[in-house]
Formats: sequence, C-alpha cells, structure tokens
Amino acid sequence: MYSVAEFTTTLALSLAILLTSRFLWNHFRSPLKSFPGPFATSYTNIWRLWDVYRGRCDITQNDLHRKYGSAVRMGPNILSLSDPTLIGQVYNTRSPWLKSSMYNVNDVMINGVRLSNLFSTQDEKWHSTFIRPVKSLYSMSRVQEVEGNMDFTIKLLFDQLRKRFVSKGKTCEMSDWINFFAWDAMSQATFSQDLGILEAGSDYKGFLKNSDRTLDYFSPICQIPLLDRLFDKNPIMRIGPPTFGWANIFSLEQLQKRYQEGKQGNKQDYLAKFLEIKEKNPELVNDNVVILWLLSNVLAGSDSTAYTMCAAIYYILKHPEVHKKLVAELRGANLALPAKWKDIQGLKYLEAVMRETMRVHPGVGLILERVVPKGGLSLPDGRFVPEGVTVGMNPWVINKNEQVFGANPDDFIPERWLPAAGESEEAYEARFSKMKSTDFTFGAGSRTCLGRYLSQLESYKLIATLFSTFDMELPSLDHEWTVQNSWFVRQHNLPVHLKERKDGVVAL
Ligand code: HEM
Repeated sequence: MYSVAEFTTTLALSLAILLTSRFLWNHFRSPLKSFPGPFATSYTNIWRLWDVYRGRCDITQNDLHRKYGSAVRMGPNILSLSDPTLIGQVYNTRSPWLKSSMYNVNDVMINGVRLSNLFSTQDEKWHSTFIRPVKSLYSMSRVQEVEGNMDFTIKLLFDQLRKRFVSKGKTCEMSDWINFFAWDAMSQATFSQDLGILEAGSDYKGFLKNSDRTLDYFSPICQIPLLDRLFDKNPIMRIGPPTFGWANIFSLEQLQKRYQEGKQGNKQDYLAKFLEIKEKNPELVNDNVVILWLLSNVLAGSDSTAYTMCAAIYYILKHPEVHKKLVAELRGANLALPAKWKDIQGLKYLEAVMRETMRVHPGVGLILERVVPKGGLSLPDGRFVPEGVTVGMNPWVINKNEQVFGANPDDFIPERWLPAAGESEEAYEARFSKMKSTDFTFGAGSRTCLGRYLSQLESYKLIATLFSTFDMELPSLDHEWTVQNSWFVRQHNLPVHLKERKDGVVAL
C-alpha cells in the first residue's frame, strides 16, 4: 500500500513527465519551427498567457515585431502578423477565416448548455443568420436615430460634473466619470433607461467592477482556452469569474416592461427596433434572440467607448497645441449643445483628433485570432503558413505601422490626418485613404465591429461638447495615467480640473 508521501511524489513525477512530453511534442511537431519568436513559445502557450496577464502585451508584441520582423511565433501553433497588406486576406468578407477557440471563453453556460453570442461564435452561418437582421441599424445614418438618447445622458453627466466638481473647485477623476457616462449612455440608447450610475455618482451595483474582473479573466485565459473548461465551464463546480447575469436580468426586465407598455411611449431605442424586427420575423426571432442583441449593445459597447473618450481627453490635455487648436475650432463653430452630429461632421480638426486618438490608443489590445483555412497562407516574403495554424493581428501593432501612418507612429499627432504643407490634394487623398483603410481599431472583414458608428457618434459628440463647455487641465503636463490591457485597454488616474469657460459663456 502507498503512503501519502509516496503517492504525492508519484503524482508530481507523473505530472512532470506528462508536461515535459507535451512541451517536447509541441516543440518537435510545431509547424512554425522556422518562424522566429521568444524561445519558450515553441514549447508552450504559457509564455503568452503570462505576458497577457501582466497587462501590457501590446508593448511586448510591438517590441517582438521590431526584433523578429513581420511574423512572430507566439506559441507552438500561433503567429502574430504585423504586415497590414494581409488584412484583406486574413479578415476577408467573402469566405471568412474562422475565429479561433480563444473567443469561446466568452460563451456562457446556462443549465449545462453552452451559449455563444455574436462576438464569440465560431459558427459563421449562425453568425450571419443573427447579425443580418440588425446590421443596418448600426449604419452611420441609422445610429443617429438614438442621438436624442445620447444628448439626454450628456446633459445628465454635465449636471453631475457641475454639481460635484465645477461648483466646488474639486478635481474630477475622469476615468471614473466617463465610464459612468458610457454605461448609462449605452443603456439609454438601448432601453431608454439608464443604469442609474451617473445619478448615484458611483458604480453602486458593481456592474463596472464585474465587467473589469470578467475581462481580467478572459484576456489571459483565452490564450489557453482549455483552461476555461477547468475554471468557468467546469460541469462539477464553477471556479470562474463573475458572470454577466446582471445584464441578462436587466435586459429581461426591460423587455417585460416594454411588453407591458406596448408601443405607447413610441420610444426611439434599440429595444423598439429589435421588437419591430421580431414582429416581422417571428419564425427567426424570439425573446432569446432579442436578449442576445440587447446584450451586444450593453456589454460590447460601453467600456470600449469609454476608453476611447478617456484617451481623447488625456491626449488633448497632454498636448497644449492640440488643445488650443481644438478649442478654437469648436468655439469658433458656435455649436448648439450638446453638439449635434450634423454640426460636427465638418470639423476637420475634431475628426483628426478623434482618428488619432483611436489610432494611438485602440480600444482592443489583443491579437484577433483566425484559423488559416485549407490551402494555407503565403506571406509576401515567400514563407508559408500551413492550414490549421492560428494567425492574427493586434490593433496596437497594426495602428503603429510607420510605412502607413508616417514618422513617430507611437506619438499623438492629429496633423498626420490633415494635408501636409506642400502636399498635393491627390497625394493627400491617397495617403488619407490608406491610413483609413489600414486603421484596425474596429477589426476588419465579416466580424468587424458592429457598433463602430454608434461609438463614434457618442465619442465625437461628448468630446465636442466637453471642450466647448469647460476649460480643463491635468494637474500638470507631466502627469501620467496608468493603462491596463485586459482585451479592452482601460485607463486609470485621469484627474482633471474643470472650470466654466474663461470667456464667461455658459455653453450647456
Ligand atoms: C471604441 C469603441 C469600440 C471598439 C474599439 C470596438 C472594437 C471591436 C473590435 C476590434 C471588434 C472585432 C473583434 C474581433 O474581430 O475579434 C469588435 C466586435 C464587435 N463589437 Fe465593437 N468596438 C467598439 C464599440 C462597440 C459598440 C458601441 C458596440 C455596440 C453595438 C459594439 C459591438 C460589437 C460586436 C457585437 C462585435 C462582434 C461582431 C461580430 O463578430 O460580428 N462594439 N469591436
């Protein structure tokens, strides 16, 4: 009979042998042996899991591409690509390359059944069946139908800023308040009902904290999705992160409330639009599908947009020349406030500032993984990547490409989006269109972001209204925020001092 000590030693030894054999198997069987990358990556994915866990894998990946070139091995079966000419192939629309299993970590288990969503599904047919009915609701012209809901939340934010900070001369932690705004704004656009976060002035129900913790789990674990079966999708005892149960419950409550109200309120929100689609397609759309669409808005569209708005505020305030030019353009335009989309479209400097913000600080910071299909992938330099290998690009790598975006790609220079001195109109158009089509902030191809125009509507309006209304500054120009890449790239430590405009105009 084994003693406990003998049993433990045997178990530890067996595990060590198993892991070593697995690492060696990975190394010798890897189809990517000829591709350069950190030594450990040919043996295991643990290296990249650890790097993502540390919170700035975007920096590591840019460094790796500078050292090893345009195709870097990140694990035994995965390559990071940095050549933007491959975007159209890897993220094509006609015959989409499958998303890798990293996305499955975002599925939820309900009563033992795995439920995917528009973002996580690997099933392209299911995806196109359920995205097709709603896609047109997110075009630039249709998103303007919820502009009134955005304006309502902007006013709510400004009332709170005045009451709590401007009137008391107190500094505002903008990374919190912009997040409060973004969650309430998306909820207002979706249900004509906010989450009450701005009013409370705090994450009083823990929604935002929950979302952060879920993403802190998702980002490292999706580097080795098998681990998710152990932690979150474990059928015996779930050890996973917090679920988005609250968002499900909130959406269901709002749906039931709407059924009771009927169409009396004539609400202009996504819930009303989804119910119209349900009415016209009863064979395809039931309440579960409506909830699936509602959740896409709330869970994919809130913090992502918040981080873009925080980044814009930070970069503008860190660059006095940019700040001055933007304020001059906005105040010169004498906008009715909250700024209307139709009035800000022609503001060239605002557009350059927003484009540059998203380029320098894209909201998503991991590799968007796809599986190489039959026939493999031939790289422009002649190397070949066989079928079945996972490849992908990180927006933080693509958006810093010097050939496309020009010199000093890590720096915030809105002028790169405007005609340069002496540049012909033709040359500028060509340069601008190349930058625009390469910008990878919202991904590309058949699985590109559904809500890009909704988020642009919100962020452009908020920034235009904020800088038209208040004089703002950081504690000092040397102030540095903190950044954490957990899929979405979030920021903290953005204290801003807000004052009514010096010229005495009370804009909003
Ligand atoms: C600045 C804000 C945003 C950023 C940076 C962003 C970024 C992205 C990216 C990069 C993807 C592609 C993921 C991939 O290929 O793996 C994506 C997908 C998606 N986004 Fe956004 N997003 C933003 C705002 C929104 C908003 C407001 C919504 C609300 C509707 C939304 C809904 C979605 C959905 C549903 C998908 C999955 C699309 C699909 O697979 O077909 N996003 N987003």
